[in-house]
Amino acid sequence: MNALTQTQVYRSSKHNGGHDVSPPVIEHKLHELDARSILNRSSFTPTARRVSPGDGLAAEQRLGRVCLVGAGPGDPELLTLRAARRIAEADAVVYDNLVGEGILDLARKDALRIYVGKKAGNHALPQDDINRLLVELASRGLNVVRLKGGDPLIFGRGGEEMEDVLAAGFPCEIVPGVTAASGMAASTGIPLTHRDYAQTVTFTTGHLRDGSVNLDWVALARPHQTVVIYMGMGALEIICRELIAHGLPPETPAAVVHAATTPEQRIVTSPLRTLPDLTRQAGLRTPSLIVIGSVVELYDIAQTAAAARNACSA
Ligand SMILES: C[S@@+](CC[C@H](N)C(=O)[O-])C[C@H]1O[C@@H](n2cnc3c(N)ncnc32)[C@H](O)[C@@H]1O
Repeated sequence: MNALTQTQVYRSSKHNGGHDVSPPVIEHKLHELDARSILNRSSFTPTARRVSPGDGLAAEQRLGRVCLVGAGPGDPELLTLRAARRIAEADAVVYDNLVGEGILDLARKDALRIYVGKKAGNHALPQDDINRLLVELASRGLNVVRLKGGDPLIFGRGGEEMEDVLAAGFPCEIVPGVTAASGMAASTGIPLTHRDYAQTVTFTTGHLRDGSVNLDWVALARPHQTVVIYMGMGALEIICRELIAHGLPPETPAAVVHAATTPEQRIVTSPLRTLPDLTRQAGLRTPSLIVIGSVVELYDIAQTAAAARNACSA
C-alpha cells in the first residue's frame, strides 16, 4: 500500500524575526492515500508535527481542525469563494464521488488526497470509519477539509461527521454548498417555488437507513408544492405509485434530472404515472433528482419557446 514518508513542520516566522505564521513546510512523497491504511495505521506514521511560538509540540493537538466543505452539485464554478479558499489551505482533503471534476485541483500539490467514496468495484468507506479518519487526521495536527457533494448538511451525513469531530475536541467549521436541488433548478429552469404553482418546497430522501421507503406520503401528496427527492432512483416506482395512491393526480408533472449542472446533465419529464417507465427507457441512473409538481411545466414551456426561437432563426 501507499507508504507515506513525510515531514510536516509548521514554523512561526517569529522564530526568524517575522510576525506572521509562515506557510507550512510539507514534504510528501505520495499525496493520494488509502483511507483504510490510515485507519489501520499500517503505513500512516504519526509524522505530522507542528511547532508554533512558545507552544512547542503541545500545539500539535490544538492546531488540528476539520472543515466540512460543500463542493456544490458538480459544476466547479458553483463553488463558494470560502470553499475554494479552505480547499487551497488544506493539508488533507477527504473526498467522495460527487465532488465535481476540477475542484480537487484547487488543493495544494502537497496536500494529502484521501478518497472515501464508491468507485467501480470498490465499496465506500463506512460512515463510522470516515468519522474516525477525520478525527485521526485532525489529531495529527492537520488542517483537514472534508469535501462533500452539494451542501454538507443536506443528506450528506455532515451532521454526524461534525458531531464526532466536536466530540473529539477539534474545531469543526462548515462551509455551505449549492445543494443539488438548487443547482438543478438553475440549470433546467425549473423553479423550486413559483407564486402561481408552488408555495412550498420539500426536500426528502428516497433512501432510508434500513433500505425501506417509508415516507410521509400524505404530506408529500399535498397540492401546490414542489417535492424534490434525493437518492430516490432505486425507489422511483414505489414513490410514484404511493404518491398517486395518496391522492396526487397521475397527470402531475414530474421529472428526473441526472447529473444536474454538469456536461452529463440529462432530463426526463413526464406525468407522474409514466415517469418510472420513461426514466428506465432513457437509462437515467444516479446521481439524479426526482422533481414532482406543476413547476415542471415551466421546463416544457421554456423548451418549447427555445425550439420555436431556434426554428425562426434557422
Ligand atoms: C448523498 S446525497 C448528497 C446530497 C448533497 N449533500 C447535496 O446537498 O446536494 C446524494 C444524492 O444527491 C443527489 N445529487 C447530487 N448531485 C446531483 C446532481 N448533480 N444531479 C442530480 N442529483 C444530484 C442525488 O439524488 C444523489 O443520489
